[in-house]
Amino acid sequence: MCGIVGYLGKRNAADVIMDGLAKLEYRGYDSAGIAVLSDKKLDIRKHSGKLAVLAEDLAKDRMEGNLGIGHTRWATHGEPTDVNSHPHFNKDKSIAIVHNGIIENYMELREELVEDGVEFLTQTDSESIAHLVDKYYEGNLLDAVKKTLNRLRGAYALGVIAKDSPNELVAVRKDCPLVAGVGNGELIVASDVTAILSYTKDVYYLDNGEIIHAKDGKIKIYDFEGNEVQKETVHLEMDLETASKGGYDYFMSKEVHEQPAVIKETLERRINDEGTIVLDSINITKEELEKINRIYIVACGTAYHAGLLGKHAIEQFVKVPVIADIASEFRYADPIIDENSLVILVSQSGETADTLSVLREAKKKGARVLSVTNVVGSSIARESDDVFYTWAGPEISVASTKAYTTQIVSLYMIALDFAIKKGSISRAYYDHVLGKMLELPSQVKEVLKGEQQCKSVAEKLYQSASAFYLGRGIDCSLAMEGALKLKEISYIHAEAFAAGELKHGTIALIEKNTPVIAIATQEKLFEKIVSNMQEVRARGAYVISIAEKHNTSVENTADDVIYIPNTDDILAPILAVVPMQLIAYYASILKGCDVDKPRNLAKSVTVE
Ligand code: F6R
Repeated sequence: MCGIVGYLGKRNAADVIMDGLAKLEYRGYDSAGIAVLSDKKLDIRKHSGKLAVLAEDLAKDRMEGNLGIGHTRWATHGEPTDVNSHPHFNKDKSIAIVHNGIIENYMELREELVEDGVEFLTQTDSESIAHLVDKYYEGNLLDAVKKTLNRLRGAYALGVIAKDSPNELVAVRKDCPLVAGVGNGELIVASDVTAILSYTKDVYYLDNGEIIHAKDGKIKIYDFEGNEVQKETVHLEMDLETASKGGYDYFMSKEVHEQPAVIKETLERRINDEGTIVLDSINITKEELEKINRIYIVACGTAYHAGLLGKHAIEQFVKVPVIADIASEFRYADPIIDENSLVILVSQSGETADTLSVLREAKKKGARVLSVTNVVGSSIARESDDVFYTWAGPEISVASTKAYTTQIVSLYMIALDFAIKKGSISRAYYDHVLGKMLELPSQVKEVLKGEQQCKSVAEKLYQSASAFYLGRGIDCSLAMEGALKLKEISYIHAEAFAAGELKHGTIALIEKNTPVIAIATQEKLFEKIVSNMQEVRARGAYVISIAEKHNTSVENTADDVIYIPNTDDILAPILAVVPMQLIAYYASILKGCDVDKPRNLAKSVTVE
């Protein structure tokens, strides 16, 4: 989602704005730009890609001035190109605006403005705002903005500056976030307080339909009718780190709770009005797809676990054999790759050394490389032939949570898209699965309501020396992720097993009170896993089962049951992983571990 920052005061506006935009990077973006009033001119720089590209431009040619606006853009109308990036400006570059949100009536505004003689430079809905402010500007910027607001339909947060008015900043909030920080003779407006806190802790929380106006040292707030609104500033006690955690104790907790929103983002960004997935950054044609006779999914750790589920989905929908492998093994295994192979890499950071080396090797051998990654402009994204961004937002906690669920959703969307293109599934089945996927955000929310139960399960197992995770079918791949979460943040030894494999050795480890988490979401394997639960329970295990809520008979065999909403078997892991993330989280807290920064681990593994 776009982020905006505006500054008027005594500091270098570009420094404050760039720092603020960096704090807003977590919102996800694909281009960035800034306008600063410098030497009686609006100096406007904008670039697609990461903020670093814009920072490089500014490092070469510094922007001087005390008034400016900046923006990180998350493309909706028009491609993420330099020209479509914000700030947008009027014909003589005397007015600049930044906008977060969507202007619903932009087509009709555009037509009207074109009739007035305006030449549009971009495909964005936002550019109209700059031209409208220009149209109404008669020496009073605030009046021109107010008149413009009367013409806009939709959601917006805006920042507006004009060349003729060096001491004036106007910002508006309607259905998009905007906070205003007030320092010593300065105003900073931003999409959230993290961009403000380094400069001031006194903020106005603007309500919808409010305009904040700073001019010649005075700051006033108005409603859209022009009436002055009396508002008190709030003094924030929180520091930057607390603010970035959004009120949660740890980033991991925040990120677990963000899953409904980010899964929604991953899905809705790619589904058009006809209910069809549009993978605009993957350019594999039907003919090319037909030539692919083998797919590899390669990744490390949690991303590999997501890849295992991707394998199931692709084989089930696309009917092409898929080999899922760990990057550190695959890179030395001399795999059979040729121009008819597709290599899918999964990586949250897009920088993992082993995964990157697989990418380079696969390309050398002529394979097409598609990456599923979270970080725009990362090395893996840049070097791949096709990229699918997960849009999970920054994941700070070392233990991966929201990246994992969005990786699975991404791989499933790719599988569905390939399958419908190839004709290996019917449109009715495609619509059915996609429909069920769209229910996931609200279903994950429902699972999160069971947080207290997960905490009490953690209370029962956190003192154990080891725990076992069992599953059958795709629940087995999910068990691997559950075990990894527990071991990496609580340091409890945890192992995942295919439940049917237990009696071939591992069951010897089960003794009184050994915690066994048995995942039982696969309908056709339900009775089988229940038998395995009986086997371990008979040997004294403390059995915690995760099952769909219609399968209440599981209560006869488990000591605790965590229910998830009913869904299709292939989608159940996306719900069932959430309680396992929470159990690991609470076990870590109970053991006094550093939840977000577990020992010996780094967030991005850029060495072999
Ligand atoms: C575990 C975890 C790691 C990563 C792995 C790959 O919670 O985060 O196992 O999944 O290091 O990292 P990326 O996805 O950045 O390639």
